[in-house]
Amino acid sequence: MKKQLYIKTYGCQMNVYDSGRMADVLAPIGYAPAEAPDGADMVILNTCHIREKAAEKVFSELGRLRNLKEEKRAAGGDLLIAVAGCVAQAEGEEILARAPYVDIVLGPQAYHKLPEMVAQAERAAAQAATARANGKPAPGQGILNTDFPAEPKFDHLPAPSVSGPSAFLSIQEGCDKFCTFCVVPYTRGAEYSRGVAAIVAEARQMVAAGVREITLLGQNVNAFHGEGPDGREWGLGALCRALAEIDGLARIRYTTSHPRDVDDDLIAAHRDVPALSPFIHLPVQSGSDRILRAMNRGHTADDYRRIIDRLKTARDDLALSSDFIVGFPGETDADFAATLKLVEDVGYVQAYSFKYSPRPGTPAAGMANQVPEAVKDERLAALQALLQTQQVAFNQACVGREMDVLLDREGRQAGQLLGRSPYMQPVHMEAPAALFGALARLRIVSAGPNSLRGELIAAHPPQPKERACA
Ligand code: 5AD
Ligand code: SF4
Repeated sequence: MKKQLYIKTYGCQMNVYDSGRMADVLAPIGYAPAEAPDGADMVILNTCHIREKAAEKVFSELGRLRNLKEEKRAAGGDLLIAVAGCVAQAEGEEILARAPYVDIVLGPQAYHKLPEMVAQAERAAAQAATARANGKPAPGQGILNTDFPAEPKFDHLPAPSVSGPSAFLSIQEGCDKFCTFCVVPYTRGAEYSRGVAAIVAEARQMVAAGVREITLLGQNVNAFHGEGPDGREWGLGALCRALAEIDGLARIRYTTSHPRDVDDDLIAAHRDVPALSPFIHLPVQSGSDRILRAMNRGHTADDYRRIIDRLKTARDDLALSSDFIVGFPGETDADFAATLKLVEDVGYVQAYSFKYSPRPGTPAAGMANQVPEAVKDERLAALQALLQTQQVAFNQACVGREMDVLLDREGRQAGQLLGRSPYMQPVHMEAPAALFGALARLRIVSAGPNSLRGELIAAHPPQPKERACA
């Protein structure tokens, strides 16, 4: 019988992708995905360290899993507990010290080592069970791997399994930018780009399995500089052009990008490649040059405005999303006003905004002039109110427009399908179940604050799989 594996994923899309890959590497050694931790033989917490209280959340979840493990042991079974992701990378030793019942701690660069770590943990658990049965002490034997190996993990991972018409494809990992607020360069390591041939091959396999939309992932996805088939370094623009050649691939997205790495060729690709999504998540963090400098972002607010102008000139239906941090150390009312001004100037379809949270080991955590929580709360509320107004206005402006929507989910009611617009807005529509997976041309008939409703104009049902392989 298959063993049951439950993975709980926190944080970004990279973690969602990584969780899928961990499930893939564990399938050959007998683990099948489970929907809940109860009854599972192994639970992996795939953690995120980017903002506040990440570690505390993990420890309280571990407390619950410990109880589950004890219940299972009392019933003659066992539960392997693994902690993966960025909290594991940053606090691996601490986890094993504070939660000795954890069997495995592994950082994001060690996922290809998971099967051997699991085998080792299963052996240790069996020995401990025998010791307990004989009334002997059975010490915790947590296995830790938080190395940054010389050889990239991608070369050692099997091709990802896909289900549904939309898939993530990781092309780049790590970050060399060292924004002063951010843990990513420490938890994910140095920037690394996969080779173009491997990425294109993976994309082809996905399309052959029915995928119509691929989201290219990377912490700094447009810093991509993978080796091309011609032996030269290719940027993201060139990669998108190559992927757009794949018959059956209707839409290409990428996330998360950095303003500094938006180069001429990427802008040109937005002009030339219709499959490239007209929606870009391009975080700016702040509209104040003083704060951008203190953040080590390497660009000014006007640099960002210019990049957006150029992108919109290349593709006039282009729309934007961003991340913002309020209350970075030293942020004054005037700095914050500059952020609001930038938001007004750009106009966002949607955006994420956060209160600055000091991350241990990052330069900003030790800066003077930390902003009081009450001020951060006020600024966050003001920024979110403005962003919400823009989101609602954009949704309203979509009414009457025609859009291509990939119908990738079933609606809550029978006879309904759900998809994402090119701008990532959820769109509901009445449609026969046979259109699941189809790219449908819709007319938007109404809009709420968080979603749209559409009516079918025409549908391009999922392509026969053989064609996609050609
Ligand atoms: N505090 C608050 N927000 C942060 N982010 C990253 N680090 C921090 C931090 N220390 C936000 C940034 C980033 C997003 C993924 O998380 O806005 O773009
Ligand atoms: Fe973090 Fe900055 Fe790198 Fe983004 S670019 S991952 S915010 S250090």
